Amino acid sequence: MPGHPDTRRRPPARRVRGRPADLPRRTAYDVLAAVADRGAYANLLLPKLLTERSLTGRDAALATELAYGTLRGLGTYDAVLKACSDRPLDKLDPPVLHVLRLGAHQLLATRVSDHAAVATSVDLAKAVAGPRVSGYVNAVLRRVSTRNLDQWLAIVAPARESDPDGYLAVRYSYPRWIIGAYRDALGEAAGSELAAALAAGDERPRVTMAVYPGGPARDEVMPEGAEPSRWSPYGFTLPGGDPSALIATGMAAVQDEGSQLAALALARAPLANAPTRGVVGEAETLVGARPARVPDGERWLDMCAGPGGKARLLHGLASTAGARLVASDVHPHRAALIQGTFAGHGTSGAASAVLAADGRCPAWRAAEFDRVLVDVPCSGLGALRRRPEARWRKSESDLPALAELQRALLRSALEACRPGGVVAYVTCSPVPAETRDVVNAGLSDMPGVEVLDAPAVLSEVPDLRSPDPRFAQLWPHRHGTDAIFIALLRRVNRGRVEYD
Ligand SMILES: C[S@@+](CC[C@H](N)C(=O)[O-])C[C@H]1O[C@@H](n2cnc3c(N)ncnc32)[C@H](O)[C@@H]1O
Repeated sequence: MPGHPDTRRRPPARRVRGRPADLPRRTAYDVLAAVADRGAYANLLLPKLLTERSLTGRDAALATELAYGTLRGLGTYDAVLKACSDRPLDKLDPPVLHVLRLGAHQLLATRVSDHAAVATSVDLAKAVAGPRVSGYVNAVLRRVSTRNLDQWLAIVAPARESDPDGYLAVRYSYPRWIIGAYRDALGEAAGSELAAALAAGDERPRVTMAVYPGGPARDEVMPEGAEPSRWSPYGFTLPGGDPSALIATGMAAVQDEGSQLAALALARAPLANAPTRGVVGEAETLVGARPARVPDGERWLDMCAGPGGKARLLHGLASTAGARLVASDVHPHRAALIQGTFAGHGTSGAASAVLAADGRCPAWRAAEFDRVLVDVPCSGLGALRRRPEARWRKSESDLPALAELQRALLRSALEACRPGGVVAYVTCSPVPAETRDVVNAGLSDMPGVEVLDAPAVLSEVPDLRSPDPRFAQLWPHRHGTDAIFIALLRRVNRGRVEYD
């Protein structure tokens, strides 16, 4: 976690014997320590620990709240702890700092009583760092407990007027560079929406699922208390609880509604002319709606498909439309996950293939596909709700290398697309360096590409227009989805393009 002291030193190894009395707090602590010390992902590790330790119901909910809430709130809690500690935080043993952060979260953002938050933190500190630290932990957390969060913010956050980003960084617990990137992504709307966008990234999303197009209808699959998604005809959100039983039936899979809408946008985007596969010829009329059904069925490519969320939906949509889908990912283990998402779903009317291939060195012919999804690897800054540590782990210096890869993948996607066909360039990040800048670079790399009106293709979804109104940008604070960016690009064949 750049900028956070706990990445700089490894904690002393300590063996905890027996079953800790306060297993939810110990579990949250273990997640914090693993994230800081070994680069673990909280959303992968926590479910594993809950199962291993047989934590369910309220205990599982407490462990989850403490782990996720503390990781998200680190920026705020460190500012408060700094004011309450007579030792610099970067001089503390990492286990002590983890315990203090967990304690600060309980005191400032939960309904745990002050007494319980302090006493359990002192016990945890003794268990993970030894008895000598208990007096210090007790003293610091008692100081934290003397004020509520708003009162602390008035003391520790920079003044909003003189340092707006510094204020937002402490108030909403973000690195400054992400605040600047969100401001650029929102454009003129930043004045009224930036704080809401940051606040939305601090919330825990409800679990959203998607049924399989062509499979049992949503109403038949949704459990009691679930709500249909606002725009995706396949989506629904669970009232809470564990989706694994439903996943095991194969009738629904966890998928953010924004991700569902990105797949739908590709499937719906208007093609220009009938497929002329393998032949790239002179221009034809490029206006007009997508043919209801092309004679030999459309060919679709999902070029960065692992682990397969969008590919699963596209597989169902392709099956019902008589199209064929190729889903590919550079990593064989992720390609195997895609295969798993197709399992159990019939392929009537469609043949699907899963490949492990680098999208930049295509395993397919140029101009082979009618529709291509390129859901590029990105910073993931649009899914901060789901990945609580991501904001601390990414840095601005990661963006140029990502943008270079994204630009190469976009170019490859455009080359894979036939004249008149459509590429959907999708990111789970709203950051301009990964979204509109890459698309604009792609347009200059490749002549003969027109930008379609992506918000119009998803016309039922309000407020999609990003500062460049041709592109669609979903936002957690506007749409309740991840911050997914969608550009729809159509190949036109102005002049002859030669391929090897
Ligand atoms: C954002 S994820 C895709 C998510 C996926 N579309 C879904 O909905 O589940 C990006 C994927 O791109 C893959 N990837 C990275 N570099 C690639 C490359 N050069 N060629 C193809 N896939 C690549 C990663 O392995 C990762 O699975």
